[in-house]
Amino acid sequence: MKTNILVITGQNRDEWDKIIASLQKNKSLFVFTANKAGTAYKLLRTEAINIALSDYSIPKVNSISFLKKIKVLRPDVEVVFLSENANLSKAIAAMKEGAYDFYELPVNLRLLNAVISKAIEKQALLFEKLELERKVKEVFDFGNIIGRSKPMQRITELVSSLAQKNVNVLITGETGVGKELVANALHYNSARSAKPFVKVNCAAFNKGVLESELFGHEIGSFTGAVTKRLGRFELANEGTIFLDEIGDVPLSTQVKLLRVLQEKEFERVGGNETIKIDTRVLAGTNKDMKKLVEKQKFRSDLYYRLNVVHIEVPTLKERKGDIPLLVSFFINKLNDEKDYKIKGIAKEAMQILMNYQWPGNVRELENAVESAMALAQKNVIEPKYLVAFTLGDLKNYSSL
Ligand SMILES: Nc1ncnc2c1ncn2[C@@H]1O[C@H](COP(=O)(O)OP(=O)(O)OP(=O)(O)O)[C@@H](O)[C@H]1O
Ligand SMILES: [Mg+2]
Repeated sequence: MKTNILVITGQNRDEWDKIIASLQKNKSLFVFTANKAGTAYKLLRTEAINIALSDYSIPKVNSISFLKKIKVLRPDVEVVFLSENANLSKAIAAMKEGAYDFYELPVNLRLLNAVISKAIEKQALLFEKLELERKVKEVFDFGNIIGRSKPMQRITELVSSLAQKNVNVLITGETGVGKELVANALHYNSARSAKPFVKVNCAAFNKGVLESELFGHEIGSFTGAVTKRLGRFELANEGTIFLDEIGDVPLSTQVKLLRVLQEKEFERVGGNETIKIDTRVLAGTNKDMKKLVEKQKFRSDLYYRLNVVHIEVPTLKERKGDIPLLVSFFINKLNDEKDYKIKGIAKEAMQILMNYQWPGNVRELENAVESAMALAQKNVIEPKYLVAFTLGDLKNYSSL
């Protein structure tokens, strides 16, 4: 398995060309290059970079801020600086912020290759337990939403600014991206947090049952309605209701939902009494709501009521930089829950996780980590324990 190295070149073209040429000779390295910070950030977000080798003078950015940003984007990447006019204070400042090493240019190429090999070795066991805990604690985890990538920072900012506002929010995104987590965070960080948070999976009931779930029913309203039942809206009074899989609500029920959203009132199925409620409505779906509206499968007036604010949760492949943090988080969580003693994950295994496209998003990653932890015979997750998930080929279990 190759190590991906990102080289951020400086002014001294000749010197950097020599360095790149020498790195390219090393068969175990794959070299990416950038000559400005923006390109470097982009590559760090999208490629499974292991090591960054950077000139200390990058155009238009302060190198310490550059280093800090790399560490935010990818806490697991080791950064080595090379500087034309190196001095001790620069080196100390960089090391204090977590740089792996610091050398003067021109650099002895044999020495540089040795430094890089050492940095790779350090990464071989990426997350020793202590390191793991430190990193997870530092995580920007608003309501357990793990992630420091740009797109996730945007989500946590949105969530924290919206939580306190009493607006309806439509949460969309592919399966397993964390929509329910976002709904939880919105409720538990709101002024309603001490009041009920009621979830309804609208796809789980057929039409009649869904209406009775949502609005309740009176005795005798239909065969089998032997007792009066309070609906989820009533139960969520003063709190929040999360209408999950909202795209699956049939049109006839949509009319009733619209009335609740507009008038804040409804009647139980089979009842005459009008019930007033004060409930914040969050809705979630992995469907394309605009398309449903276009196809007249979803009422546009209801769509606009639900979608006062829209949060689109990004897919995992759009924020691969979060994978190491999520993996650490799940390892810690499962060590606690299941009494496993996994210390970390081998570099090659992490590389497999970084290269995979994750159609099932964070849920799939969590399953992959859990199954690898259950299969692991030592205290490290090795590639052989991940094969089934990453290649989708269960036969590979037989080679364990
Ligand atoms: N950012 C995250 N940090 C930590 N755990 C996460 C994150 N995102 C998702 N998860 C975990 O992944 C799993 C799936 O998340 P969730 O149920 O919120 O996804 P979803 O978008 O509602 O999926 P679906 O569309 O299938 O209902 C959960 O166990 C959740 O805790
Ligand atoms: Mg969900």
